[in-house]
Amino acid sequence: MTQPEEHCLWWQKGIIYQIYPRSFQDSNGDGVGDIPGILKRLDYLKWLGVTAIWISPLYPSPMADFGYDISDYCNIHPLFGNLADFDKLVQEVHAAGMKLILDLVPNHTSDEHPWFVESRSSRDNAKRDWYIWKDARPDGLPPNNWLSMFGGGAWEWDETTQQYYYHAFLVKQPDLNWRNPQVQEAMLQVMRFWLDKGVDGFRVDVMWHMIKDEQLRDNPPNPAYQQHMATYEQLLPVYSTDQPEVHDIVSKMRQVLDGYDDRMMIGEIYLPISKLVTYYGVDNKGAHLPFNFMLLNMPWNAAEIAAAIDLYEGALPQNAWPNWVLGNHDQPRISSRVGQQQARVAALLLLTLRGTPTIYYGEEIGMRDVPIPFNEVKDPQGLNMPDKNLSRDPARTPMQWSNSEYAGFSDAAPWLRLDSGFNRTNVQHQKEEPLSVLLLYKRLIALRQAQPALYRGRYQRVYSDTQMLAYLREEEGAQSYLVVLNLSHRPCYFTPASVVIKGKVILATSPELEGQVISNTINLAGDEGVIIELDTL
Ligand code: GLC
Repeated sequence: MTQPEEHCLWWQKGIIYQIYPRSFQDSNGDGVGDIPGILKRLDYLKWLGVTAIWISPLYPSPMADFGYDISDYCNIHPLFGNLADFDKLVQEVHAAGMKLILDLVPNHTSDEHPWFVESRSSRDNAKRDWYIWKDARPDGLPPNNWLSMFGGGAWEWDETTQQYYYHAFLVKQPDLNWRNPQVQEAMLQVMRFWLDKGVDGFRVDVMWHMIKDEQLRDNPPNPAYQQHMATYEQLLPVYSTDQPEVHDIVSKMRQVLDGYDDRMMIGEIYLPISKLVTYYGVDNKGAHLPFNFMLLNMPWNAAEIAAAIDLYEGALPQNAWPNWVLGNHDQPRISSRVGQQQARVAALLLLTLRGTPTIYYGEEIGMRDVPIPFNEVKDPQGLNMPDKNLSRDPARTPMQWSNSEYAGFSDAAPWLRLDSGFNRTNVQHQKEEPLSVLLLYKRLIALRQAQPALYRGRYQRVYSDTQMLAYLREEEGAQSYLVVLNLSHRPCYFTPASVVIKGKVILATSPELEGQVISNTINLAGDEGVIIELDTL
């Protein structure tokens, strides 16, 4: 469904760039990135052409889960700076013509948050019901069989008050009780605090976890569980996540946003598409962009990807805006999943599909997952399940800016080791290298931003087989494009059956292909992709 130009909102037309603040740019020589560091790199982001920045949590936190365990929702962790730095960030991001999206983590707090400190102090404390406390079963065991995403059971026994509390993640991340209206109001107030400061939106952490089954029933076993999988996957989270009442909460959050001009909300939601799309809400009054993670974990196979795109396009409610993601701070990087060459094809895909693209920092220079020796692992998910290779550290290593010591990220040894190849793979080098993936991203971004067919036009699949995918992007009265991608390493050939295709390659993974006039047959080498500007008939 296309919309008239005047209705194309900033987050629909825009391109989001995710910053993991610990690893983007250090300014004070402590080996951890910070807000002044981000400020220093705004020129780069503007040069790249992205239009919005989402920053992973900057709030005070004991850092048990690297900022996703918050102990104060309305402040900035001293590691990252202070509120004055933040205000400057809002101002400068806006002055650069970009938008700022904050990470909001409403599902759980740190166990060091004053709310939890109070809640655990006694059974009759006013904030007792702000968290999920339950008696042991008669045999002393936890109230149900739910598991923690980070390994082990999800209930922690509290000696002082002789009850269990629920934590979907770490013991140090107790879940809030969103059925309690005071909790709801407190978190909506947090949203207003940041919206009043001028932030343009939120990426809401684990949105689908926020409400749990009222009766806390046992989750059923997962028949597809295999040994290599995270222990959490032994059960199907039927009662612990995606409960119908979550939509009331999302709608309340949305109402807060709607009280301001032009703000937006992304939901982090790992669910099958049929369930994901329910988070758009009735009449699209839920999340503006429930994150579409389809490309993160599906086999890199043209036929499956083509089918997935159609499945998603078909499942979207009317007027719901799509979005696409290749990576984030919880997932292996795209270069490591599909290879360096194929990652260039993935960039063409991400930036020519219909819907808002989100780029994970470093993706644009082809950063790969960095092997982190076990004695240097920091991620609790990796530490708690050491035999499963689940650490998220490899995808969180410092941004590679230059070939100087510590890659221009810091003057000191970074908190997580750098890729040993940063001398070759870095921004400075790639800016000068015409064939670099960085310049490919920059040109793709510029093309997408300039062409209505690409940022808001119709998507129509033209052809797909096990190697290749071809689709049209079209918009009334605007230049049309045909995108042909070879998602394999072997040559492939495409001759449309019923239509004659005429046009010129405007952008390609390999520059030799650019400028080529196309008249029906398209031959691509392995790992090649082209964007064809079609002749008007
Ligand atoms: C989200 C975050 C992840 C974090 C988890 C718990 O999935 O993306 O990094 O560990 O929530 O807050």
